[in-house]
Amino acid sequence: MSDLNTTLALLTHHKTIRQFKPQPIATDIIEKLIATAQHTATSNFCQNYSIISVTDSAKKRAIAAISGQDYVANNGHLLIMIADQQRNQQLALAEHEPDKLLHSTDKFLAAVFDTVLVTQSLVVAAESIGIGSVILGSVLNDAQQMIQLLELPPLTFPLLGLALGYPEQDPSEKPRLPERAVHFTNHYPRKPVALTNYNQQVQAYYQNRRQTPRTTNYQQHIAQSISQELGNRADLAAIIQAQGFLLDFKTDREDH
Ligand SMILES: Cc1cc2nc3c(=O)[nH]c(=O)nc-3n(C[C@H](O)[C@H](O)[C@H](O)COP(=O)(O)O)c2cc1C
Repeated sequence: MSDLNTTLALLTHHKTIRQFKPQPIATDIIEKLIATAQHTATSNFCQNYSIISVTDSAKKRAIAAISGQDYVANNGHLLIMIADQQRNQQLALAEHEPDKLLHSTDKFLAAVFDTVLVTQSLVVAAESIGIGSVILGSVLNDAQQMIQLLELPPLTFPLLGLALGYPEQDPSEKPRLPERAVHFTNHYPRKPVALTNYNQQVQAYYQNRRQTPRTTNYQQHIAQSISQELGNRADLAAIIQAQGFLLDFKTDREDH
């Protein structure tokens, strides 16, 4: 498809930015981006997320230490994307409705879906006005500390970070899998799709990129990505449950 409209071109040429100019993003721009992203589809029209702007430099540094990535402190604006059923709990209780369901895996997933989708909308909205971003799964390196740092109440969970800023780099685009490797018709294929060309493409990307070039192909990249220790992430299920989620097995409890 050669004739891309503006939206398709923007999405096709997405790239994560990890070096930002030391220029803060104006508050009205952040507010506009969030107000725009709020129009994203949302599970059952329940808007199961919240967003925290982290402007306190000590908190930013603490989150950068959790992430192990300096661009978490050095950016134009840092957002933490919260999977949130707490607001819904308050609303349900005000209606004298039992809030049992909000503790279920189903409602946790709904909050995860909404949080991820609104994050992606923010990425696209930001790129449309020349602001780069990096999504930060690395906040999960210490979810418990994130919860304490941001004073997160029960039925909330710090799912992702999003660092935004004016790009100070122009990295090359990472090639994606061929469409036929991710898109099937009517059933999942019995044989894996051959990825020889894609392996070569990814290897060429890694060899030619300006920062940290290496010879890894895609298959090796995947293997390496699952060879690391989980660290604190091994505790994620327990932390999520301690926040009041994934409690289906307790649905007959009287105390919610
Ligand atoms: C859920 C999620 C979590 C991510 N976490 C991090 C992260 O912690 N640090 C980082 O540098 N990039 C992170 N990324 C960015 C990916 O590394 C990046 O999207 C991927 O390498 C593809 O590169 P591109 O976005 O430039 O096309 C994350 C992306 C997603 C979707």
